[in-house]
Amino acid sequence: MEKLIIRGGRTLKGTATVSGSKNASLPILAAALLTDELCVLDGVPALRDVTTMIRILRNLGVKVTQEGSRVTVDPAGYAGIEAPYRLVSTMRASFCVLGPLLAKKRQAKVSLPGGCVIGPRPVDLHLKGLKALGASLKIEGGYVLASSRELRGNTIYLGGAFGSSVLGTANVLMAACLSKGRTLIENAACEPELVDLANVLLKMGAKIQGHGTPVISVEGVRRLNGFTHRVIPDRIEAGTFLIAAAVNGCELRVNGARPEHLGAVIDKLREVGVEVSAKDGSMLIRPKRRLRPVDVTTLPYPGFPTDMQAQMMALMSQTPGISVITEKIYPDRFMHVAELGRMGARIKLEGATAIVQGLPRLMGAPVMASDLRASAALVLASLAAKGTSEVSRIYHLDRGYDRIDEKLTRLGAEIRREKAE
Ligand code: EPU
Repeated sequence: MEKLIIRGGRTLKGTATVSGSKNASLPILAAALLTDELCVLDGVPALRDVTTMIRILRNLGVKVTQEGSRVTVDPAGYAGIEAPYRLVSTMRASFCVLGPLLAKKRQAKVSLPGGCVIGPRPVDLHLKGLKALGASLKIEGGYVLASSRELRGNTIYLGGAFGSSVLGTANVLMAACLSKGRTLIENAACEPELVDLANVLLKMGAKIQGHGTPVISVEGVRRLNGFTHRVIPDRIEAGTFLIAAAVNGCELRVNGARPEHLGAVIDKLREVGVEVSAKDGSMLIRPKRRLRPVDVTTLPYPGFPTDMQAQMMALMSQTPGISVITEKIYPDRFMHVAELGRMGARIKLEGATAIVQGLPRLMGAPVMASDLRASAALVLASLAAKGTSEVSRIYHLDRGYDRIDEKLTRLGAEIRREKAE
């Protein structure tokens, strides 16, 4: 296991370049299961979660090669139908092989992912959608056993208690592409990652309309082709760099991001008092001297992303005044609160709302990462804190950020990666 030793208070400057999106790459790699032809995905980030998805594909008999950020998937004649617990339990996104396997092979055995540290994370919407397409589903020994002689289009309302589901929409959309007739997905997720997946499916010959809106319409086709595609930039990594600039009071340029995917984050940062300007694929962030506290509520896209909530809390805990942060997607996603508290942050939790009494500066401390975005928040907090912090269990960070410690070091941060005892 490794940890990061971070000395706070260094001035960051320069340009950060954003990698390809993790959450777009994962379902797009699963979409290769829908065809027999070669699929080429460019811009894939070097992350543990991507490695896990590749292992799942290989386990199904698919040939996968990786050269730098290009992943080539050759699914010709793959015969596997099972995604085992040992792989699915380490990464929930692997559950989105269910829809493609069912549509292409007419049967699938995919482990239930189980809960995770950010909350219970059920898959009922995935199952409801696939059942509406005509799949017969059984749960046995912790696995979903799915089969169907023929999938048929249907009208499916995919909303749950916390709104739409990103991977649920992905699973149903992929299966609908090879179903007979027309499918309408209502309350579909509108996240840019889902739109990227739909664009890949269109390249494969699928007939989809309305992606990026809450109602997606799919006219099923008999077969799908291979594709060549460059994945969209990671908007959460980009947002994490924007907050790194804000929390350190430094001017940074962020290259390769799409500002149109970051509307809610940019709007909040402007409210905090950070100047954000975008031009020619590059964003410039210039914090003003005095930042202001703000209230933030996470919501499905285009609302403020839950995947930026922890990082925003790291910023607010070092912005004097009272900020209120409400989590509407994962009401339990607050594991970072106690760790930020170890650095002196004053945060009170009331249900799914955190009341943050911001201080001018936190103090470095040994802290422990609990999930991916919580880890990022602890890194950001440490960059600005007085003194040295040790962030342990950073395998969480490596699941979703492409060499973020190296990227921050290039910007002037003092970060060392060490083996933890
Ligand atoms: N939900 C249900 N039933 C379902 C599915 C989801 O009730 O069948 C609930 C969830 O418990 C949650 C809400 O619906 O309260 C939204 O969950 P969603 O299904 O949209 O999450 P996901 O698709 O499993 C993706 C991202 C997450 C991100 C969420 C929300 C990937 C691989 N993961 O998860 O990313 O937080 O959407 O935007 O795309 C991360 O990158 O750190 C991460 C956790």
